[in-house]
Amino acid sequence: MTDSTSAYIAIPLSSLKQSLRDIQFDVYLKLGEDNYAHVFSRTTGLDYKRLAQYVQKGIREAFIKKEDEVLYQDFLKNPPIELLKSASVTNEKKIAVLLNLTEQNLAEIFCQLKVEDEVAQSTSRVIKGYVDLLVGSPRSLALILNLVSHGEYLYYHSIAVSIFSIFLGKATGVLDAKTLQIVGMGGFLHDIGHALIPDEINEAARELTNEEWEVIRTHPKLGLDMVRDATNIPDEVKYIIYQHHEHPSKDGYPNQLKSTAIYYPAKIVSIADSFSSLISKRPYRPAFTIPQALKVIQNEKNRFDKPLVELMTSIFGTEKNEKTKKAA
Ligand SMILES: [Fe+2]
Repeated sequence: MTDSTSAYIAIPLSSLKQSLRDIQFDVYLKLGEDNYAHVFSRTTGLDYKRLAQYVQKGIREAFIKKEDEVLYQDFLKNPPIELLKSASVTNEKKIAVLLNLTEQNLAEIFCQLKVEDEVAQSTSRVIKGYVDLLVGSPRSLALILNLVSHGEYLYYHSIAVSIFSIFLGKATGVLDAKTLQIVGMGGFLHDIGHALIPDEINEAARELTNEEWEVIRTHPKLGLDMVRDATNIPDEVKYIIYQHHEHPSKDGYPNQLKSTAIYYPAKIVSIADSFSSLISKRPYRPAFTIPQALKVIQNEKNRFDKPLVELMTSIFGTEKNEKTKKAA
């Protein structure tokens, strides 16, 4: 792999995936004979979107300077996912690691037309990290929300819906660990169909036209199509993606399912989805406070599973969630 006349060493581009943003070495792409473009630097770190685009374009090889080889080997020896398993690592550090991995994972998901197995597998690992963290330490919820609330909306929303869903799912007391993982993954991936909808509709800072709403209403089906062939994504997660806008009042979409036909974890994600979007600032309206968001959900309770609305209110409608309010 090493060209003895060159000051550069080839590395697999994929070795940079599933890593923290901070790197101790510079990364280059080879443009031609002795022509290297500096693409990631040790001062600014990895740019996950660009990395995902390079991978998507089929670029397999990146390059580092020979003198950085030891630093690169150290980097390979310490995969961040291992930190999540360590009892000696603080929750704050674990959250920082998880958010890095999540951001990279989302960058990959949103630049694909189909979710590939490898990406689905890393999503599953990330969600397991959130489930373990939230079940072991419920106060992590507020910490995570505080950290993600300033990011891009889809990034924030995917994480928020996932963790609200895990939290609500845990509070039902009836979900086993496997279903909790499914709820978390469903929450994370529920809106991936938006990746195939034009930005001018997704990000419109105005009322949408009827035609545009029709386009928006295709996102559960588009999302399902994106994951249909991903064997690492359980069918239950696919149901959630497809059903998260179905309402027990039978006026949801795409199929106006009746309550008994809607998968229970999809009902959990449906409330978490509405709650997350209400407490987020949107281009066309300010953020609702948590009490205001709960009121909206209570007023529209026919759209949701009633016991879940009550549970949601009892979890988030108390003073102890001041931090969560701030995060909104
Ligand atoms: Fe949605």
